[in-house]
Amino acid sequence: MSLPPLLLIGCGKMGGAMLAGWLEKGLPPETVVVEPHAGAVAAFAGRVRHVASIAEIPADFVPAAVILATKPQEAPNALPALAHLVRPETVFLSIMAGKTVAGLQALLGGAPHIVRAMPNTPAAVRLGFTVACPGPGVTAAQRELCDTLLSAVGEAAWVERESLIDPVTAVSGGGPAYVFLLAEVMEKAAISQGLPPDLARRMARATVAGSGALLAASTEDASTLRINVTSPKGTTERALAVLMRPEAWPALMEEAIKAATARSRELAG
Ligand SMILES: NC(=O)c1ccc[n+]([C@@H]2O[C@H](COP(=O)([O-])OP(=O)(O)OC[C@H]3O[C@@H](n4cnc5c(N)ncnc54)[C@H](OP(=O)(O)O)[C@@H]3O)[C@@H](O)[C@H]2O)c1
Repeated sequence: MSLPPLLLIGCGKMGGAMLAGWLEKGLPPETVVVEPHAGAVAAFAGRVRHVASIAEIPADFVPAAVILATKPQEAPNALPALAHLVRPETVFLSIMAGKTVAGLQALLGGAPHIVRAMPNTPAAVRLGFTVACPGPGVTAAQRELCDTLLSAVGEAAWVERESLIDPVTAVSGGGPAYVFLLAEVMEKAAISQGLPPDLARRMARATVAGSGALLAASTEDASTLRINVTSPKGTTERALAVLMRPEAWPALMEEAIKAATARSRELAG
């Protein structure tokens, strides 16, 4: 499958991962990349057309999708400069955290077709999870194109109500941080039980990564996989009796996700 012309605005961590995913999937697009740092696009030399600023986008370039992947705080500068690209045939796919469809529309002007998406950092290894929401006017073909672009770095799913992007941000957007925290605290606890720091670090990392891979490869629920490790009256059961106290992980995760969802609502604009 080949892609129509694409315009990528911002080739940092997330934009660069997406671009790498598109190229890896054998979807060689006619792509223009706007990115101030030449080093960020060096890996893609010869495969995309790189310009350093929006003003340098070739005047005759008509993209089918404009992927907005700068930091959200750059949006007020960048988006008005893209107003000339607003037309029904072009979809704007934004991955900028907190930037609502209405906010993007106001910055772009006119009646842009916008898809708002929230990816997560495992996209860097093509194991991301992105949830997207279509704004007004987005056609089935534009939705399919965005799905293809997002699926190149992992799984993609869609919601129809934009307000759901707030809990999505809390769960999958921030989720990798919670899992990394698990590796951190497991490492510290291992050290406090007398294990050498280097071994503790390797064990914590490999256990989190290996469990994630097992979960990904299995059709079983996470709870079944957990029960499979838990022998009656054994050591894991003893540990889970601590972690699963009503006031421990179940309540804390609920509270954490609620707090992050509320913060996402506060930041939206
Ligand atoms: N990383 C995540 O976990 C994650 C998850 C979900 C969503 N997102 C969203 O993804 C977006 C990108 O995040 P990131 O982590 O990839 O950021 P990043 O690494 O800072 O990448 C953004 C890139 O865009 C460049 N840039 C700045 N102004 C530009 C302009 N006017 N035109 C073109 N490029 C410009 C930046 O250059 P300078 O460094 O000079 O500014 C930088 O190289 C953010 O909006 C973020 O909310 C990120």
